Amino acid sequence: MKIGILTSGGDCPGLNAVIRGAVLKGSRKYGIEFVGIRDGWRGLVDADFFPLQRADVKGLSKVGGTILGTSRTNPYEGDRGGAENIKKTMYGHKLDGIIAIGGEGTLAAANRLWNDGVPVLGVPKTIDNDLQATDYSFGFDTAVNIATEAMDRLRTTGDSHQRCMVAEVMGRHVGWIALHSGMAAGAHIICIPEVPLSIEEICEQVESASERGRAPLVVVAEGFKLKGQEEAYSDKGLDAFNRPRLGGIGEVLAPLIEERTGIETRSTVLGHIQRGGSPSAFDRVLATRLGLHAADAIVDGAWGQMVAMKGTEIERVTFEEALGELHEVPLSRYEEASALFG
Ligand code: F6P
Repeated sequence: MKIGILTSGGDCPGLNAVIRGAVLKGSRKYGIEFVGIRDGWRGLVDADFFPLQRADVKGLSKVGGTILGTSRTNPYEGDRGGAENIKKTMYGHKLDGIIAIGGEGTLAAANRLWNDGVPVLGVPKTIDNDLQATDYSFGFDTAVNIATEAMDRLRTTGDSHQRCMVAEVMGRHVGWIALHSGMAAGAHIICIPEVPLSIEEICEQVESASERGRAPLVVVAEGFKLKGQEEAYSDKGLDAFNRPRLGGIGEVLAPLIEERTGIETRSTVLGHIQRGGSPSAFDRVLATRLGLHAADAIVDGAWGQMVAMKGTEIERVTFEEALGELHEVPLSRYEEASALFG
């Protein structure tokens, strides 16, 4: 059996650990031959492959990024030929199936390819933790740890100057990173896309913290929108590369907070630092387990499915289940954290 592996979408700590887990178990236990596919679906469309053997994955569980490279290429867009081109390429290279490691966009493409007759198995990846069918995705724990450490640092400089510090974290559609890192760092208010707040509500908590002699820490997810001003901040146009412009909400909030409270305020965007570097031990273990289970799933012919974490076990779900609604922060979880605000 010959299987191609690709990583697609934004990179994420733990991608290499999945690759290592799948190659080690697949080659040793089942005698599967693996090829690496460069730069996500782009490499599959262009038949850009290289052999992936046991020696190639040595020591990879602790290495950040992806040795395969990644891209946001969609195999159905432009003149890429969709499933028909891919089927021809796979036939020519004697590939029996594909392991696609990626987030929502990758899994949507994988589902379409599967429906068009391409054998694909999915492995969930997102630092945002926004995929419905998996309780946790690797990369999330690492991102939370990095963001928490950064906030601990922001607090000591905030304390020294009696400033309000605004930390903007990733999370385009959901606020999991903000919620967890904010709770861990003792934020005085956490702003997430699922719960619009007014500037008055934010300033109330900032002032309450300041009155108790604390330097206020405001944590905001990049997709947060101020209540009543959703339109003003939801469409910030396109950047120079024609991509939707994201982030920047910390820069919007900081002057508004300073103006209303009179407390000097600074904003920091943590950005891609949250995605870089070595995965946490939790993410190494989760990603490795997903890779090991991916090898089993291939041998069982579980195409059109995704391996996923349910509770503490790794299970299989269909692409349809994985592609349902986004895994948002439930209001009850936000309310639980809000007891700590101010
Ligand atoms: O989806 C993961 C994510 O890290 C988001 O939180 C963020 O908005 C986006 O990727 C950034 O994408 P890019 O690396 O393409 O700028």
